[in-house]
Amino acid sequence: MEKKNANAAHFRFVLSHWGVLLLHSSVRSVPKLLPASETVDKLRPLLSRLVADSMSRAISGRDLGRDAEPIVYSAPDLYIEFVPWKHGDSTPIHNHNMWVLIAGITGNERNVNYRRLDDGSAPWHARLEENNIVDILSGVCASILPPNDIHAVAIPNSRTTALNIYGTNLSKEWRYQFNIETGEVTPSRK
Ligand SMILES: [Fe+2]
Repeated sequence: MEKKNANAAHFRFVLSHWGVLLLHSSVRSVPKLLPASETVDKLRPLLSRLVADSMSRAISGRDLGRDAEPIVYSAPDLYIEFVPWKHGDSTPIHNHNMWVLIAGITGNERNVNYRRLDDGSAPWHARLEENNIVDILSGVCASILPPNDIHAVAIPNSRTTALNIYGTNLSKEWRYQFNIETGEVTPSRK
C-alpha cells in the first residue's frame, strides 16, 4: 500500500512539475506559424523520452486502471490529459481540430482512422470509410493531425493508460462527432 502511494505521488510529481514545464516550454519554443506536422515532429522526441524515462518507472506497480484519477493540465496553448481506459472502452467517431500527440504507457489504445469521401459541401454531413488502424502500445508516441484527424478509440485487450497532449485547450474547443451510418455530423465539446 505504501509503495502504491509512493508511486502515485511520484507520478503526480513528474507530470505536474518538470514534465509539464518541459512540455510547455517546448510548445512555446516552436514558432506559432509552423505547420502542425512540424510542431508534433519537434515535440515527439521529448514526449517519448518523458514517458520512457520517467513515467513508466513512476507508475510501475500501480493499478492505474482502477483507482487512477485523470490528471489534467490546461493552458490556452496546451492541454495534457492522463487517460486510464478499461478493457472494452470505446469512443464515438470524432475529430479534434488541433494537433494531438498520444504516448502509450501501458496496454493498447487502438485508434481506428477514417477517410472522408465527400467534398464537405453539404453542411453537417460527411461520408466516411475506414482508412487504417494504429495500435498505440507502451512506448509508442503517435500523432493525429487535421484535416486527417477523424478517428475512434477502442481498447481491445487489457487495461490501458495513455498520455495525451493537445495543441490548444481541449476543454474550450468545439469538435465534431460523426455517424458513419447516417452521415450526420454533430458538434461536441468536452
Ligand atoms: Fe480522439
